[in-house]
Amino acid sequence: MGNLADNKPHAVLIPYPVQGHINPLIKLAKFLHLRGFYITFVNTEYNHKRLLKSMGPKAFDGLIDFSFETIPDGLTPIDGDGDVSQDIIALCKSIRKNFLHPYRELLSRLHDSATAGLVPPVTCLVSDFCMSFTIQAAEELSLPIVFFSPSNACTFLSGLHVHTLFDQGLIPLKDESYLTNGYLDTKVECIPGLKNFRLKDLPDLIRTTNPNDSVLEFVVEAVGRAHRASAIIFNTSNELESDVMNVLSTMFPCIYAIGPLSSLLYQSPQNHLASLSTNLWKEDITCLDWLESKDPRSVVYVNFGSMTVMTAEKLIEFAWGLANSKQPFLWIIRPDLVIGGSVVLSSEFVNEISDRGLIADWCPQEQVLNHPSIGGFLTHCGWNSTTESICAGVPMLCWPFFTDQPANCRYICNTWEIGIEIDTNVKREEVEKLVNELMVGEKGKKMRQKTIAMQKAALEDTKPGGRSYMNLENVINEVLLKQK
Ligand code: UDX
Repeated sequence: MGNLADNKPHAVLIPYPVQGHINPLIKLAKFLHLRGFYITFVNTEYNHKRLLKSMGPKAFDGLIDFSFETIPDGLTPIDGDGDVSQDIIALCKSIRKNFLHPYRELLSRLHDSATAGLVPPVTCLVSDFCMSFTIQAAEELSLPIVFFSPSNACTFLSGLHVHTLFDQGLIPLKDESYLTNGYLDTKVECIPGLKNFRLKDLPDLIRTTNPNDSVLEFVVEAVGRAHRASAIIFNTSNELESDVMNVLSTMFPCIYAIGPLSSLLYQSPQNHLASLSTNLWKEDITCLDWLESKDPRSVVYVNFGSMTVMTAEKLIEFAWGLANSKQPFLWIIRPDLVIGGSVVLSSEFVNEISDRGLIADWCPQEQVLNHPSIGGFLTHCGWNSTTESICAGVPMLCWPFFTDQPANCRYICNTWEIGIEIDTNVKREEVEKLVNELMVGEKGKKMRQKTIAMQKAALEDTKPGGRSYMNLENVINEVLLKQK
């Protein structure tokens, strides 16, 4: 630790333990560190082991006033090397059942360390709202707690309105046929703040046939506990989601848009703690050299995030769609992307793309998106990917998979008009056509202009004095630094 006499405020941050939630919370942790906080960042043992494996055992050495702690995830260890996304249903069940106890023990250990003068006393908690058990520990210790949503605000709002959807008879779906018979095109008019949303745009776990779905219960419980948090913050901005943020502000006294976090840190002095990253898969940085050899805005970047899975047939449709478009592309194929094991792309395909395609396992996505050679992003529309693309001024092709991604796709393609959707049942001809539309078509040009305007707005919002920046300052001063 640095100088204890500094008597730093000490924030304990805990993400929901998947890549797309860890990344934005580590950005927030860096910002708080920059603002003088001592940071304890809590990973699951499983994830921390993976981080050390993918980034090297010394990845977190030498950090000052920034430490990592672990708690078990209560799941049976995965066979093999374990470098795979975990079972979300099992994880959610385990979080409800198993996490409070080790979290309490961790806080108690930190208390002992503080008494021994090893760390400053814990002064506040920041918790992913999906880890809502933390509210109980905060109440027991009378500590301020901020709930953090790494995703858009409209998913949170939908979670608050699950009962409304039940009351209106919109859910549960009568049977599985309702997923494909056109029913999901029904407009959702009972959630104030959501404009032109259809049932198919809501998180997939809401469009369920099972009223007792365990992940739905998990989310409803989490948003239900948000009233007990000292404040709720979102990795979004008023620019991105003004209607939803306005509605939420009437429901909660302390609710703030503090994002997009992607551009907040770029503007911090020397990009504070830039080298501290949290990749669960090993990064292949050689793709950055490859990008150097390409013309400005000529490369399609393809990445489906950390949790999307697809059949081998769908992957092959994407592969030939990309090859036939004749545009250069960088495609990240995560080792566990294909259902049932790794896919072998044919030698015919490999020969066809040899002069213009590069495939890698995992990359430094924000660096890639901000590389001048990137002209478009074929994405699964994870919220991080969406906001990172906006912050880099890169328009998108959208193939949403699950959770909040349908809503993000709706925003991208309809509200903001900076992307085009690819049909769920992907076909190579459509991929070829839309890739060309994005990269060299008139529509692509207009979308790029709009994305660049949104990029500018994001930079304005997150620079010192900007609206998101000031919201975060407010939370720091009024909640996190408030004396008991
Ligand atoms: C999940 C959900 O799917 C997403 O919708 C939700 O909003 C957050 O949690 P994920 O599917 O992984 O996340 O997508 P995304 O939100 O885009 O997050 C992926 C993160 O991993 C991004 O920060 C991205 O920059 C990073 N990443 C991804 C890399 O650094 N390298 C890669 O090769 C792929």
